[in-house]
Order: sequence, then C-alpha cells, then structure tokens
Amino acid sequence: MTSITDAELEREVSEWSEQLERLTRTCAWLQCVTVLAKTESTQDAVLCRADSVGSAIVAGRQTGGRGRRGRVWADDLGRGIALSVAVESEDSALLCARAAVALAHAYVPLIGQMGIRSGIKWPNDLIAIMDRPRKIGGVLVEEHGDQAVMGLGVNVRSRVWPEQLRNSAGTLEDTGIRVTRLEAIVHLLKSLDRVMTMSKEQLQSEFIQADLLEGERLVFEESGTLHEGVVREVDPFTGVLLVTRDGEVRLRPELARLHAWESHVNDGGEGGGSEPM
Ligand code: BTN
Repeated sequence: MTSITDAELEREVSEWSEQLERLTRTCAWLQCVTVLAKTESTQDAVLCRADSVGSAIVAGRQTGGRGRRGRVWADDLGRGIALSVAVESEDSALLCARAAVALAHAYVPLIGQMGIRSGIKWPNDLIAIMDRPRKIGGVLVEEHGDQAVMGLGVNVRSRVWPEQLRNSAGTLEDTGIRVTRLEAIVHLLKSLDRVMTMSKEQLQSEFIQADLLEGERLVFEESGTLHEGVVREVDPFTGVLLVTRDGEVRLRPELARLHAWESHVNDGGEGGGSEPM
C-alpha cells in the first residue's frame, strides 16, 4: 500500500499510451490522450501540451496535485488516476456537473456490483457509503480565458492515507472492485466522452439521479455560518435547498460546503485523495 517505484511506474504506464490512443479513435468528443509517467499537476501539463479542446493528459503520479479551495490532492503514491482535459469554457457549474456525472457514470454501477451505494456528493465529489461516506473521486475546474481545464482525480488502489484523510478518503479497491488503473482510466474517458455532449437538461437529470444528499440531515457551512437541516432538493445549477428549523435556505456551490454528514463529523483534514466532508 505504499508508493510504487519509478521503475514500476514506468513499466505500468508504458502500456497506457497505445491503449488510450486506440480508445480515442472510438470517441466522438475526445481527441487525444497524452500519458506522462510523472508530473507536478496534470492541470498545468494539459495547458502546456494540449493545443485543442478534447485533449487530455493522464499521469501515473502527480507530485503537486491540487484540489478545490486551494487544497492539496494527495495522489503522490501513484495509486490513483490524475486526468485533466482541455474543454471549451462554459458556465463553471455546467463543467462541474459534467465532471461529476462522468465520475458517477464511470464508477457507480461498478461499486454497486459490490453491494455498496455510491453517488455524487454535491457539488462534485464521488462518494461511496462504506463504514462512513468515503471520497473516491473529486473534480477541479480551472478557467483560462476561452478554454477551461477539467481535472478529475480518482483513488483507485488501496493506500495508507495521511492522518487528516483517514476518516474521509477511500479507493475503488477498498469497495472490493478489482480494476487496474488503466481500466479505471478507460471507464472514465468513455464516460467523459458521453457527458461532454449532453444538454444541460440531461446533465441536470443525471446529476439528480446520482445525488446522495436528498433527504439527509446535514450541516453546511456558508460564509462562516452553520446551517443544519434536511436536504429537500439538490440541483447542480441552483444549489442545495435545505429545510432548517428557521425555514428554507438555498446554498450555493461557490460559497457553501458540507460540514458534517450524520454522525460523521468533519475532522478538518486537508484536501487531497479526499477533501473534508
Ligand atoms: C477536489 O476534490 O478537491 C478536486 C480534486 C481534483 C484532483 C485532480 S487530479 C487531476 C487534476 N490535477 C490536479 O492537480 N488536480 C486535478
């Protein structure tokens, strides 16, 4: 469950390029995939290398992966997927919804085969409900003028987590799924290729179908204020509608974050393989 060596990494990713190139020939939206054994962050690598919308970078290991809200994405051991794709700039809620639905379509059916419920934790985390909700994947969208970079991180193989992520992170392997990283990448790219051409209405409906929060009693934090209540509605574009003791509160993805889920109190960890609930 430790870091793979550079030699093992080179060996593992050496077979990725050919297979992923073959995959792009069957994809309508995805144009090309470049494989890097190691890079600081695929978010930057895609900007240097990708010259067109539909280009993707996959790395075997990231040494400086970043997450949302300035957090670190801890996938330095080479046990996950780091994928960034150059996309046309759109409303960021739309891009986040595309990425979240891509994660859900790629892995929820597989995780379901293990008898484990999983889905989207608004706004765009992939969560599996194991001993507690565990983050399997996350999304980072960064805008660069008329282009944007959509970054997806997925925890694939089991590993030892830093202390602050121990209660919130999980991997596909932890759910019982046996997939290689290459297989997990192929699932994600196929799914991404489909969601990139979905209409806003389709995305909204797919997102709501994969949502895990509706009906849950939760605590959100928005601009320093805690709001506790039952989630009445989750929508990728209008946010969460929470029914609190004092009435209904609408929470916006750019301002609010989930603070605590049932008895799973936020342990205040960094982002990374996972971010705090
Ligand atoms: C989050 O949940 O905070 C978002 C995590 C996004 C991580 C991915 S891994 C590929 C891409 N490269 C990065 O440095 N970050 C994103």
